[in-house]
Amino acid sequence: MWSRVYTWLDERLDLRGLYKNTLDRPEPRGSWWNTLGSATLFLFIVQVLTGIFLATYYTPSPDHAYDSITYIMNDVSFGWLIRGIHHWGATLMVLLVFVHMVRVFVTASFKYPRELTWLVGFGLLLLTFAAGFTGYLLPWTQRSYWATTVGTQIAGTVPFIGPFILKVLRGGTELSALTLQRFFSAHIWMLPALITGLIVIHVYLIVKQGESYWPRRED
Ligand code: HEM
Repeated sequence: MWSRVYTWLDERLDLRGLYKNTLDRPEPRGSWWNTLGSATLFLFIVQVLTGIFLATYYTPSPDHAYDSITYIMNDVSFGWLIRGIHHWGATLMVLLVFVHMVRVFVTASFKYPRELTWLVGFGLLLLTFAAGFTGYLLPWTQRSYWATTVGTQIAGTVPFIGPFILKVLRGGTELSALTLQRFFSAHIWMLPALITGLIVIHVYLIVKQGESYWPRRED
């Protein structure tokens, strides 16, 4: 039955061709270093899935944010596990995206014809940091409150437009319910949408140009 469904879809969507062009590509000379981008992509998908679960229980208001986190940890079945995966997944994603960037730098893969891949990747790096920063505030603990106070203050020191950036980030001059609401919507909606868009462009460029590899002596 499933093979008939598959054949039906394949005739219309060319699933085999899609698979061959996107996933069935040999890693250049089988280097593990070339798998770090895919590992980052995998973690991003894990973050989206666990994040959807957390968002069904989390309440973005100063009065209830911390309580809703406590509820997820203590009363929701496997809530502690899903939150733990989301927490450590975020840390690991920041680490992996950085090591992936270092690998790309060391193999000089930012040169022609991959300049755009590098630039889009740099956008992904900034957005990954932004996702980590906005997520940090959500539990609304003392630590997250003060980390965000300091982080937004630093952004506010940009010459000329600093006060404007500070106001946009905080939703006013001080940290408040508006800040939490803003960070929440950025964390669960704006940033994941932007990251998804850039990943599509990033992967399209990689599939189109092929991957570079560690040069050997004979190169
Ligand atoms: C969410 C973040 C990112 C994801 C999901 C991602 C994904 C990928 C994937 C799947 C590849 C294929 C080869 C490999 O796995 O190494 C790749 C290659 C590449 N990435 Fe990323 N990447 C990210 C961030 C970055 C960053 C921060 C940079 C640099 C600023 C970057 C620059 C590049 C370049 C230039 C290539 C081509 C390398 C080659 O041809 O050998 N990427 N990326």
